Amino acid sequence: MVKRKILKLLKINWQQKNNIYFDKEYPIPEDIYFKAGGCKQYQRSKSPLESSFYDMKVYKKFLKDIFNKYKPKLILDLGCGDGRFTLEILNNFSNTFVVAVDSNFEDLNFIEKCLTKEQKERILLICSSAEKTIFLEEIFDFIVLSEVAYVLKNPIKIYKKIFGYLKPNGLAFISNVAKQSYFLHALINNDWEQVKNILLNSKYTDKIRGVKNLQVEVHLYTLPKLVEEVKNVGFEIVKHNIIYGEHALILHKLRKEKMLDDSKIDLVQLAFDNPVGIERIYTILARKKI
Ligand SMILES: C[S@@+](CC[C@H](N)C(=O)[O-])C[C@H]1O[C@@H](n2cnc3c(N)ncnc32)[C@H](O)[C@@H]1O
Repeated sequence: MVKRKILKLLKINWQQKNNIYFDKEYPIPEDIYFKAGGCKQYQRSKSPLESSFYDMKVYKKFLKDIFNKYKPKLILDLGCGDGRFTLEILNNFSNTFVVAVDSNFEDLNFIEKCLTKEQKERILLICSSAEKTIFLEEIFDFIVLSEVAYVLKNPIKIYKKIFGYLKPNGLAFISNVAKQSYFLHALINNDWEQVKNILLNSKYTDKIRGVKNLQVEVHLYTLPKLVEEVKNVGFEIVKHNIIYGEHALILHKLRKEKMLDDSKIDLVQLAFDNPVGIERIYTILARKKI
């Protein structure tokens, strides 16, 4: 059984709760994401009044292209949240095994509840900090690091880690958020402190799911900066993409003005289909060079 094999390989003193594994040495981390009750990106991607709904269309296509072309078998979804990528992979690509890691126990619990009996055999759910979890070198074919590095103190450290975890020629899907869209977001909010922080430091204090006092200072990117960081750890860039953010900004503004209802879906879709060019998320497909 793949699961047992991997657990053995990882040589960690495992404890299990609700089919979720965590290292006995480290208690389940109770970070701000834990306190905010999870990232809920997957759950939000079901509603056309959420930006994640539109982003997911792009991600579905990315995954289809990657799996059709490279056919990865052993996948790590690091900072998997409530499973936007993990569930998409398990639902659509057979003969795959996903190691899904997040520091948030609630998100992993949600994933576990979505799984079929067959899928439970193809997943290992691990509750741990991405910065602490120790995986053996060169075991994964494909690693997903979607909108995770930007929330960590040291994103470069995590790129180096995933580089080590990948087999030679293995692929990583890395995405981070763009300065442009966050700048406009701060302007819409009349949040001049944030505007200043973006201009001076390329940083933004993100309220996790709008919850007061649950804040994390995130790194904001330009595409050249992200490409350079990823290249500097030894990756070769296979391709990069920009997801534009007009749909997300319109949703944010409508929500703020309490004008968001189903009648606006057509407008949001129109903005997604015809972006004026406000960059929101950068995605990179990178290969571990041999
Ligand atoms: C913006 S969400 C992205 C979730 C998912 N990758 C997606 O694209 O839907 C960021 C996720 O990173 C997780 N996270 C933050 N810091 C982490 C850490 N140090 N170790 C593991 N996961 C972490 C959070 O719990 C959250 O689920």
